[in-house]
Amino acid sequence: MRLVLLGPPGAGKGTQARMVQEAYGIPQISTGDILREEVAEKTSLGSYAATFMERGALVPDEAIIEIVRRRLKQPEYAQGFILDGFPRTLAQAEALDRVLEAEGSAIDLILNLQVDEEELVARLAGRRICERCGEVFHLRFHPPRVEGRCDRCGGRLIQREDDREEVIRRRLKVYGEEAAPVVAYYGRKGKLKEVSATGEIESVKERIDRVLKSWSRGER
Ligand code: AP5
Repeated sequence: MRLVLLGPPGAGKGTQARMVQEAYGIPQISTGDILREEVAEKTSLGSYAATFMERGALVPDEAIIEIVRRRLKQPEYAQGFILDGFPRTLAQAEALDRVLEAEGSAIDLILNLQVDEEELVARLAGRRICERCGEVFHLRFHPPRVEGRCDRCGGRLIQREDDREEVIRRRLKVYGEEAAPVVAYYGRKGKLKEVSATGEIESVKERIDRVLKSWSRGER
């Protein structure tokens, strides 16, 4: 299955993509995670991307499209994938279709996760990430068993640079400007499903599960 998860920063794309990966064995591709790895490794792409990411702006389309194009060529994504954080602009959505078309495939389903803005700010401001394995927690909604430590590997939990309130507001504004054409584009293709992403993480997972199962049964 070739899936896209759309939704604003903090909607839970990463959280849910990892759950889909575990439950269905569909590998996740997160452009945000790829970029953060490049930044941490101080590559030239990472230094370039950091100048956009730290102020909550989008990394230019050409760079992101090239990253995804290369990823999709890797054999582990041949049978399917779940894209989280891409596409974010109409140019990215069109480029993705061209890349897949060239290989005779296409996106099967697009899930658009929806959450109110104030809830998004609370989710992002309280997010903490394991600096070692990348596991995601929330101070209030998904706290670690031991304060400041990852449940999975014991690594230190840190706050993402772009999860400061002023940067969060900027990211939400950018999302508001760029997302509508992408949603409209997929809506016209008839493959878009709206999913409410408010409420408990488990409840959102169940809603996504229902959509994926009904798609698998051929209900469109
Ligand atoms: P990226 O990493 O993609 O950030 P984002 O889209 O802003 O999304 P987030 O990772 O912030 O949120 P999420 O929806 O994954 O939420 P999560 O599951 O973590 O991108 C970062 C930057 O990289 C961009 O700003 C841009 O500069 C650049 N970039 C990336 N892709 C790009 C592209 N395609 N084009 C151009 N530039 C690009 O959850 C958030 C928190 O909420 C967590 O703490 C979680 O535990 C909690 N939570 C999750 N679900 C729930 C729930 N149901 N209830 C309560 N809490 C919840």
